[in-house]
Amino acid sequence: MTILERPAAGSSEEPAAENEVAPRCAYVIFGVTGDLSSRKLLPALYALHGSGHLHADTNIVGYGRSDWNDEVLREHAESALRMHARDFDKSSWSTFAPRLRYVRGDYGGTAGMSRLQQLLVELGQSNRVYYTATPPTTYPTLVESLSEMGFQSSQEGWTRLVIEKPFGHDLESAVELNRLVTRNFDEHQVYRIDHYLAKETAQNLAVLRFANTVFEPLWSNRYIDHVQMTMTESVGVEGRGEFYEQSGVIRDVFQNHLLQLLALVAMEPPARYEATSVRNEKVKVFEAMGCVAPGDAVLGQYVEGNGMSGYREEEGVDGGSRQATYAAARFEVQNWRWSGVPFFVRSGKRLESKATEIVLHFKTPPHIPFALPVEPRADRLTLRLTPDEGIDLRFNTKVPGQDIDLERANMEFTYAQRFERPNPDAYETLLLDTMVGDATLFMRSDEVEAQWRVVAPLLDRQDQEAQPCPYPAGTLGPPEADRLLERLGRRWHRPGPG
Ligand code: BG6
Repeated sequence: MTILERPAAGSSEEPAAENEVAPRCAYVIFGVTGDLSSRKLLPALYALHGSGHLHADTNIVGYGRSDWNDEVLREHAESALRMHARDFDKSSWSTFAPRLRYVRGDYGGTAGMSRLQQLLVELGQSNRVYYTATPPTTYPTLVESLSEMGFQSSQEGWTRLVIEKPFGHDLESAVELNRLVTRNFDEHQVYRIDHYLAKETAQNLAVLRFANTVFEPLWSNRYIDHVQMTMTESVGVEGRGEFYEQSGVIRDVFQNHLLQLLALVAMEPPARYEATSVRNEKVKVFEAMGCVAPGDAVLGQYVEGNGMSGYREEEGVDGGSRQATYAAARFEVQNWRWSGVPFFVRSGKRLESKATEIVLHFKTPPHIPFALPVEPRADRLTLRLTPDEGIDLRFNTKVPGQDIDLERANMEFTYAQRFERPNPDAYETLLLDTMVGDATLFMRSDEVEAQWRVVAPLLDRQDQEAQPCPYPAGTLGPPEADRLLERLGRRWHRPGPG
């Protein structure tokens, strides 16, 4: 994550150099035959190749159990890129393909790992990134095998281990996994991924707050009434029924993506925008988060509706499943800045639309000097991650005319309108960071554990609750979630621009 200050649009100043070429390395992807690799990792590496960020001698080494070879991996990668890359270009592909190599092997045992070792030596790669794009149950075996083979250090270069989410299944398993990982690797070598941290608006949150003077003085319980965070998805479990049965919405997105965004909103200004300072500040937020009281959370599950089947009818899902596909909860950050400001957070599958946004609802002015038929609405700052990534500020303005009459106005910034280039995919940013050695957008061991502590009461609640509240697919979620806010005199903001 390189922060470059760019000249204003229309300025004759040359922009600063954009391309940081990452050090030469071998990027080893365990589980290269899987979905994550096809949809995200290969397209991200291909984009970094196209933008000149990959060193000319960097290799991408796919590792998997399938009986493939270099050629099969290249064929597979080509079709994955044709489907998932932002732009597929024949000439760029022809220079990317030779970087790809394949090693067949198991995640445990030594035969495959020895072949991998041999190939890395043959390629002369002493800087190595190992990426776990495998099912989470394989992480412990993989970490142990890497360590047994002496892969945790390389004599002349550096070694980094990238661990995909979910990191553990609950606090206990996360602590155990952390113990295993840090017994074999140094913490500074470990990159725990949460791709939401690399979304442009998530990164822009720090810039908005700490590189401007207008927002930060308002950023507290003095002026903010409450915060709403919404991550709705129109898709269901998309063939991942079996995984989702184990995970549910709390483990899938609350423990990681949503809590990370909350921490970026609530954290104190770090002394420097680098891994240690930022992560210290985020951990303090999680430590200040109290338990969610039973009445402050609603769990839901989608049922048949709008021509779509219900969760229990999905492949791999138990016919009587009690797994939550929706949750809404009220969190608190109990410190000087945020005491008394509720953070309402909700997410669900098979909702009306896909939208991710953070809305800061300001307090109403202490005194209105105008004679108005109704009280003016409170100002609202929205940070939108999907769709139309950007920021908007809603405020009251005078309607032209002799009387004082108010209407809502909107000051809007969208990346698409302001910048010509498309935003990089979050994985492009993250994979580049793992090569450059910048861990700011990755989670530290204590951070992951603190996040599990925050969601533990929600997980307990799920275990105890007889049934989640049903909501028809394609709607806004269970009405019980509306009541959660109504009790406190607030209303959910309808997600989406406008
Ligand atoms: C993943 C979850 O981490 O994030 C998925 O496992 C979810 O269930 C996805 O759909 C959402 O990511 P994005 O970037 O599409 O908003």
